[in-house]
Amino acid sequence: ANTPLICPSILAADFAKLGQEVAAIEAAGADWVHVDVMDGHFVPNITIGPDVVKALRPHTTLPFDVHLMVAPVDPWLEAYRAAGADILTVHPESGPHLHRTLGRIRQLGARAGVVLNPGTPLTVLEEVIDLVDLVLLMSVNPGFGGQSFIDSALTKIERTRALLDAAGSTAHLQVDGGVTALNAGACVAAGADALVAGTAVFKGGPDAYAANIAALKGAR
Ligand code: DX5
Ligand code: ZN
Repeated sequence: ANTPLICPSILAADFAKLGQEVAAIEAAGADWVHVDVMDGHFVPNITIGPDVVKALRPHTTLPFDVHLMVAPVDPWLEAYRAAGADILTVHPESGPHLHRTLGRIRQLGARAGVVLNPGTPLTVLEEVIDLVDLVLLMSVNPGFGGQSFIDSALTKIERTRALLDAAGSTAHLQVDGGVTALNAGACVAAGADALVAGTAVFKGGPDAYAANIAALKGAR
């Protein structure tokens, strides 16, 4: 399998030093910056508004991969795109018209992602596959960092890989939640090409980021 893209979730960064943190993960070999946006309604936590994303934009040239856990999501797409998001990923449960939402994201010039919770069936992808640049599979129930990887995600990765290949889709297949060097290899073997990791990247502080990222990239 190829080397996966590593997308550190800044939810696990030091929020008092976010600018330095995104610069540090770029220097340490990260590929994308994963930004977890939570509204205290769709998920039980509140995190990062568009003004924070805008403030971070000058601190790195890495793509901003923005995971929107917000409902309704449509009113926020433009603000996060204007703030510097390159990828906007939405949950199908966060609005009544997934097809329209994905079209809108591309219209804004961003790449469009769909994210499936552990309890969300894969079939939701079938009707929108042509509008999707990234599929994100949750391997925890969203809301918090530091949770344990749900093992049934591995067969879901395999099934999603098969669905994307059968559709001739080149969309990225990303996994999020409880990813560590111990399960990263299995995720990639199952067909993932991008891994989100919060705790596994930021543990140990800035001096450890490069080794933490290398361990995820090299996991077999
Ligand atoms: C969960 C978030 C994840 C999470 C990852 O709602 O979407 O991105 O912060 O953190 P770890 O890697 O610590 O599980
Ligand atoms: Zn996330």
